[in-house]
Amino acid sequence: MNRLSDFAAHGLTSADRLLSAIVSSSDDAIISKTIDGNITSWNDGAERMFGYTADEVIGGPISILAVPGHEAEMPGFLEVIRRRERIDHFETWRRHKNGTLVLVSLTVSPILDDNGQVIGASKVARDITAARWTSQALAKAELQLQQQHRELLHTARLGELGQMSATLAHEVSQPLGALLNYLGVCEILIADPARTDMSVLRDAMQAAMVQVQRASKILQRLQAFARPGQAMGKVEPISGAVREGLALATIDAARLGVKVEIECEAEDILVKVDRVELQQVILNLVRNGIQSMEGAATKNLRVLLHDAGAQVEISISDTGCGLSNEITGRIFEPFVTTKPEGLGLGLSICQKIIESYAGRLWVKETGPQGTTFTFGLNVVGRSTEDGGLISAVAD
Ligand SMILES: Nc1ncnc2c1ncn2[C@@H]1O[C@H](COP(=O)(O)OP(=O)(O)OP(=O)(O)O)[C@@H](O)[C@H]1O
Ligand SMILES: [Mg+2]
Repeated sequence: MNRLSDFAAHGLTSADRLLSAIVSSSDDAIISKTIDGNITSWNDGAERMFGYTADEVIGGPISILAVPGHEAEMPGFLEVIRRRERIDHFETWRRHKNGTLVLVSLTVSPILDDNGQVIGASKVARDITAARWTSQALAKAELQLQQQHRELLHTARLGELGQMSATLAHEVSQPLGALLNYLGVCEILIADPARTDMSVLRDAMQAAMVQVQRASKILQRLQAFARPGQAMGKVEPISGAVREGLALATIDAARLGVKVEIECEAEDILVKVDRVELQQVILNLVRNGIQSMEGAATKNLRVLLHDAGAQVEISISDTGCGLSNEITGRIFEPFVTTKPEGLGLGLSICQKIIESYAGRLWVKETGPQGTTFTFGLNVVGRSTEDGGLISAVAD
């Protein structure tokens, strides 16, 4: 129950009673105290927040709420109040009757008498413990998500690279080992020509050549793997696949202050792609765009799906720093990067994927206004309004 102090207790008008009811029902703790720090009123909110009833604390010192070791804070507040100044939304800790700590946001204002003299202070305390925990938990979860996202990107790239190197090393080391053996035999035979059967030497040399041819074939096959080939894929509406990739790639755009917009002129267009590969392309291009806008005054990322007839062109434009001169003409080469933590593989992977669908990836324009990367994919059909399909090639 709210108890009003001496200086407010007599002559209650209906306005006073209304005010008293508001104070009493507030969720915030509303407390008044004399200039010496003695409690003069204590509402129900204060009772809920700090555990003491009004009867227990009124007339007693406000320092009952102080956290041990932080007692000096309250006299400091009273000094500010004596100067008729206010303390606004000051975050600090207070102690509940049961000893637990409560994180509060405090607003303390001076109470003046009719002559304008400071006779006390009113204090509104809001419990922000739960809000703080929630925002800390959210921030932590977001950090973890970003970390996982980064790890995923790196694993995907390193995985591909590592897999290729492992295959290369394994496949080529076998014929090279055999080649070494045959060359060793040849060396022994040549060392003693008088007793060497020339046909044995010739056989050994031929066997060595077979191994060289085998190693060379393996390398050719690996080159073919790295070059455009016949990609697998399913007939998909391009707009859905792009939107899905964009959602993944722009997960932290709002936090980074990047405005993302998509314009689609190709709602009905069908392409034959592997969704995961297409997402990888969008992810790489969008991440590059977002990274290029770090520190830019305007941060707009625009994705356009343009119906170009036989092809659909997907453009990703940023308002970032533009391409750096030092890498002009080399951006699609693997390991070309200007970023301290970049691998320089994003664009080369994108190019490889797009070309495997007989498509093309290019930089349309670059300059101080930003950069636009565009890729074109063959249109394999169009969906009709009722969800049907017209002129799609065989899936
Ligand atoms: N939108 C862009 N704006 C400005 N520069 C870009 C943009 N996209 C790519 N670049 C430049 O091209 C380089 C190569 O890009 P790429 O995606 O291949 O590798 P990366 O982003 O440096 O590293 P990774 O993608 O492997 O983490 C980048 O380092 C950057 O200098
Ligand atoms: Mg990149």
